[in-house]
Amino acid sequence: MPRLFEPFGLKDITLKNRIAVSPMCQYSAEDGFINDWHLVHLGAHAIGGAGLVIAEATAVAPEGRITPGCAGIWSDDRAARFAPVVSFLKTHGAVPGIQIAHAGRKAAANRPWEGDDHMKPDDPRTWQPIGPSANAFGANLPRVPQAMTRDDIARVRGDFVAAAKRARDVGFEWLEVHFAHGYLGQSFFSPLANKRTDEYGGSFENRARFLLETFSAVREVWPQNLPLTVRLGISDFQEGSQPIEESIELVRRFKALGLDLIDVSVGFNTPDVSGVPWGPGFMAPFAERVRREAEIPAAVSWFITEAAQAEAILRDGQADLIFLGQIMLDDPHWPYHAAKALGVPNAKWTLPAPYAHWIRT
Ligand SMILES: Cc1cc2nc3c(=O)[nH]c(=O)nc-3n(C[C@H](O)[C@H](O)[C@H](O)COP(=O)(O)O)c2cc1C
Repeated sequence: MPRLFEPFGLKDITLKNRIAVSPMCQYSAEDGFINDWHLVHLGAHAIGGAGLVIAEATAVAPEGRITPGCAGIWSDDRAARFAPVVSFLKTHGAVPGIQIAHAGRKAAANRPWEGDDHMKPDDPRTWQPIGPSANAFGANLPRVPQAMTRDDIARVRGDFVAAAKRARDVGFEWLEVHFAHGYLGQSFFSPLANKRTDEYGGSFENRARFLLETFSAVREVWPQNLPLTVRLGISDFQEGSQPIEESIELVRRFKALGLDLIDVSVGFNTPDVSGVPWGPGFMAPFAERVRREAEIPAAVSWFITEAAQAEAILRDGQADLIFLGQIMLDDPHWPYHAAKALGVPNAKWTLPAPYAHWIRT
């Protein structure tokens, strides 16, 4: 059996294969409430045969949405909208996961296909973004965030905890805390974004504090028998970024607090991404390093599109799970097609019977 189709066990959860749908914002919620779009979008990936389906960056507070169309889990009625999603995923063989997030200074933007820029300050839909420091991301996101007070920090930590409890109560079995891509957690860790002079800025210990405190508080409420993971941007690949060694040390600290798996990604704390070593599977060598040096299971994404490529990443010990983004939008039946490409016997049974029975192979 190819490694891609071997089960993967973590805590009490077993994924039927190593293929996960990476969290992907749909910008299609209203006032944080998800709807039928999300059920069909996420459900399609359970039908397609992914072992793990992770719902998009879901805001822990209203001001933590990237756009007005982002999903939210800051109230019980918003969380309840996920119940049919969880039920469908479980019924059709996928483990239901969710990513909880706060967009920080990148919040209050228009949807990508409506400009991807900050809403104008006089737009009736907008709100005031917050961040570690009163400095803007820049370029298309010029709004200066309000620097968070200690009370704000405590409040947002509490928002993450409340979100984790709601995710637990609605039946999610896999939780990812979003500390990547220039959003709030990542921006506390990055010297490119965090210019604070109190105990939440400056040294490694101080820049790591918000992330470690938040993670630790979430671990308290997230069931011990279920996987708790973090997506971390390990570098911005430019001058001024935290060194990768610091990111690895942070992963070790998370591990000591109960992290089960690290999802290795990019920093994206500034508009300049010219230093990112773009290319097929470019994050895999970094995932391998984090996995080895922090001695923790790792997931990897970015430009992984081919079955053989995913298989090689697993076989080479670069990662334990393959997170797929854009290719899954292109082809929700990617797991079935990968099974065929890798010569899995009876590959069509990667799909549910009402499809598999009719497929001519
Ligand atoms: C439409 C879209 C929405 C995304 N939303 C999120 C998100 O909510 N959270 C996140 O951590 N990454 C998000 N990403 C990044 C993906 O999860 C993934 O890591 C990235 O696209 C690289 O994988 P790929 O090359 O297979 O697309 C998004 C990507 C896309 C294309």
